[in-house]
Amino acid sequence: MEPVTVHLTVNGVPYEGRCEPRKLLVDFLRENLSLTGTHVGCEHGICGACTILVDGEAARSCLLLAVQVDGAELQTIEGLMTDGVLHPLQEAFREHHGLQCGFCTPGMLMTALDFLKTNPDPTEREIREGISAVLCRCTGYQGIVNAVKAAAPVLRERARTR
Ligand code: FES
Ligand code: FES
Repeated sequence: MEPVTVHLTVNGVPYEGRCEPRKLLVDFLRENLSLTGTHVGCEHGICGACTILVDGEAARSCLLLAVQVDGAELQTIEGLMTDGVLHPLQEAFREHHGLQCGFCTPGMLMTALDFLKTNPDPTEREIREGISAVLCRCTGYQGIVNAVKAAAPVLRERARTR
């Protein structure tokens, strides 16, 4: 099949790449743009490891073709840190042992980012529901839940003062 050109803005940076129309977005990010922070697990929408933000909303990049999001604004795990400083969610995951092998972590962080935007002051139960779309295979969820809980007030304060 003839390659097509895809234009994307990822973490505020414009990108252009050529790929076959059947190329998955997650593979386009990793292989064409060398943004390998987004992980690939199941490749059929179950595990959530590939979650990124597409035009501000969490989406599984293994269920989208790169051509489908031509012209979109994406945010990936590489865009969380600012000027060498960890995002409050990353800081909280580090402090509260929210990661072990780190395989689910990029998808977990992007999912939590979207979740806390829509629910800035969640209960523990709501956090568990909010991150339930991402499967962690190794730590159990308590550390992750604690981390999201700890990040919530920091993000609320940040939103208030911006
Ligand atoms: S790799 Fe996309 S949901 Fe598992
Ligand atoms: S930290 Fe290993 S899969 Fe979640």
